[in-house]
Amino acid sequence: MSKSVSRRKFMQTAGTAAVVGMTSKSVFASNKKTLIIGVSCSPRKGKTTATAVKAALNAAKGVNPNIATEMIDLGGQSIAGWAPQQILDDFELILPSFQAPNLGGIIIGSPAYFRNMSSLCAAFLERLSVLRKPKLILANTSVGALSVGAYRNGGQELVIQQIHTAMLCHEAVIVGGKPGAFQGATLWNSHKDNILKDEFGIESAKKLGIRVAEATLRLADITK
Ligand SMILES: Cc1cc2nc3c(=O)[nH]c(=O)nc-3n(C[C@H](O)[C@H](O)[C@H](O)COP(=O)(O)O)c2cc1C
Repeated sequence: MSKSVSRRKFMQTAGTAAVVGMTSKSVFASNKKTLIIGVSCSPRKGKTTATAVKAALNAAKGVNPNIATEMIDLGGQSIAGWAPQQILDDFELILPSFQAPNLGGIIIGSPAYFRNMSSLCAAFLERLSVLRKPKLILANTSVGALSVGAYRNGGQELVIQQIHTAMLCHEAVIVGGKPGAFQGATLWNSHKDNILKDEFGIESAKKLGIRVAEATLRLADITK
């Protein structure tokens, strides 16, 4: 059975379990929660983009106990862009996470670099193309994006749109955030890397996480 088919089956089973109110012995409780992965695409490990993605993930987790989260910080990792020959780099280490049968959502964050996504983000997205053939493994995965810039209007929304556009090629379901963050989360690094001081931005990250969680649960058939 292909991965995408088995994942769909899992989602259906999980949704049924939730609807009938199964608890301790449910599919979810047997360590098969719906997974939302956060990816920080800044070369600077643990800095503002990573903090924002973590805030989004924490908010997502708070939506429902059946959501599990995983944080992937690409800072310091070596990931080359797509090439015709096989590449052996750190992408191989993170690839299994995106092949997890219970993956339901992805939150991708990138710093704004000259009003574009970082080259690390572009490389990561290019390498994800391995999940497009022979089947679209990420189809119907909910995907939201965030961006951090040093300027209030530094191109964050453009970066978010670039990430959305790339993930549409997976037939992912693109989602924004709750009201006030409809496009996704936009953050302003105006306090020397202390992004928590950007209360509006952190709030938008939370709104993104909540919306991705809601969409992920919906796609898992829970609300039907
Ligand atoms: C090469 C480069 C280009 C940048 N271009 C922009 C930009 O176009 N707009 C902006 O708001 N900030 C820009 N910045 C600032 C970063 O987006 C900002 O510092 C961000 O918080 C970095 O994310 P990090 O803390 O996760 O590394 C740029 C930074 C670098 C290094």
